[in-house]
Amino acid sequence: MRKPAPTQHQVHELIQQRWSPRAFSSQPVPPEVLRSLFEAARWAPSSSNEQPWAFLVTTADDKENHAKMLSTLVEFNQAWAKHAPVLVIAVSELAFAKNGHPNRNAFYDTGAAVANLSVEATSRGCSCIKWRVRSSQSNRAFRNPHRVGAHLGLHDRLSGQSGNFARDAAPSRTGPARAKAGGHVCHGRALGKTASFLQK
Ligand SMILES: Cc1cc2nc3c(=O)[nH]c(=O)nc-3n(C[C@H](O)[C@H](O)[C@H](O)COP(=O)(O)O)c2cc1C
Repeated sequence: MRKPAPTQHQVHELIQQRWSPRAFSSQPVPPEVLRSLFEAARWAPSSSNEQPWAFLVTTADDKENHAKMLSTLVEFNQAWAKHAPVLVIAVSELAFAKNGHPNRNAFYDTGAAVANLSVEATSRGCSCIKWRVRSSQSNRAFRNPHRVGAHLGLHDRLSGQSGNFARDAAPSRTGPARAKAGGHVCHGRALGKTASFLQK
């Protein structure tokens, strides 16, 4: 199912077509597609080129790991996520490798990597949705090394096709896409003062 964003201005089709469905085809995502998605994530920009992200990835055929990752989500999301052919936890390394100092941009950078992944997914007819992770469960289930301070708290659900979408899609996800107006996002001389290029 396609749900193009009703954008105020022209944007690339890949941006317009991305959205977060809650239902997916059970078809597995081919390994070569997965490789491309994480390759896209790998090439995101990051503060000091630290690349503080890492991804725990499981596919539905690995039932034990899939169930373990599912358990890190709140129950509401588990209802949808259990059908996902791929589950991912994005992890942020919160300290710089070179000196152990806190990296305040780690979450920001990991978000950029996930955004890259989402765009690549859209280009390949895949969808993904992010879910908050219950960090305590996640840490327990995956025994993260202590140097990884916290999870970014994203769960992605990916699919090759969205063939069975209509059957079990949540109404809240099939409604029109929503975004704040440009004037709420782009400010000029101060926050609250709309950027001039938006007024022309
Ligand atoms: C950090 C993050 C956490 C999210 N958590 C949830 C969640 O717990 N459950 C859910 O259904 N969607 C979740 N979402 C998806 C957002 O609700 C969705 O991106 C937003 O409503 C905009 O819709 P769109 O992605 O279709 O444009 C999350 C998104 C992000 C980026």
